[in-house]
Amino acid sequence: MAVIHLTLADEAATLSFAGVLAACAQPGMLVLLEGPLAAGKTTFARGFLRALGHVGHVKSPTFTVVESYDLPRLSVHHFDLYRINDPDELHYLGFDDFLAGDALCLIEWPSRAAHALPLATWAIHWQIGAGETRKISLECPDENLHKTLYVALKKFFISAW
Ligand SMILES: Nc1ncnc2c1ncn2[C@@H]1O[C@H](COP(=O)(O)OP(=O)(O)OP(=O)(O)O)[C@@H](O)[C@H]1O
Ligand SMILES: [Mg+2]
Repeated sequence: MAVIHLTLADEAATLSFAGVLAACAQPGMLVLLEGPLAAGKTTFARGFLRALGHVGHVKSPTFTVVESYDLPRLSVHHFDLYRINDPDELHYLGFDDFLAGDALCLIEWPSRAAHALPLATWAIHWQIGAGETRKISLECPDENLHKTLYVALKKFFISAW
């Protein structure tokens, strides 16, 4: 599997990184955001949604589980599954229907639903580094998409490569 490793120096870098991925966003994609509390998953989601045209606040779905956005190019469901303890809760939420729809799904704490998830377009693993740095690895099983992203990210993060 093709994996890209990157160091994001600060919050601004995370927002730019999200913007590069948003430029490749398509309906139906599945993006997994895995990492510890305060890693930057919701910050990434904010950059991603803003790059797709969302104006204003991005609420963390910690309590609501999902926040949905109808944006000019596509719709996005942003999940935070941290509080999901039981597969039945996903069932009541209609999780499978969300995944089967046309919207792009961004999922924080996907490990809570590991059994219910198809292969992701991107799985992003976050690690907290020194100060504001965040180390990420980005798995992208689609080879063509991987090549496109690699070129785009290299342009943006050339100094961090
Ligand atoms: N490089 C960075 N990228 C993203 N956030 C950063 C970075 N450096 C510092 N931060 C700070 O870390 C915090 C990240 O919070 P955020 O809500 O995005 O985390 P999260 O991974 O969604 O956590 P949770 O699992 O609780 O939902 C913010 O306060 C942000 O300002
Ligand atoms: Mg979060």
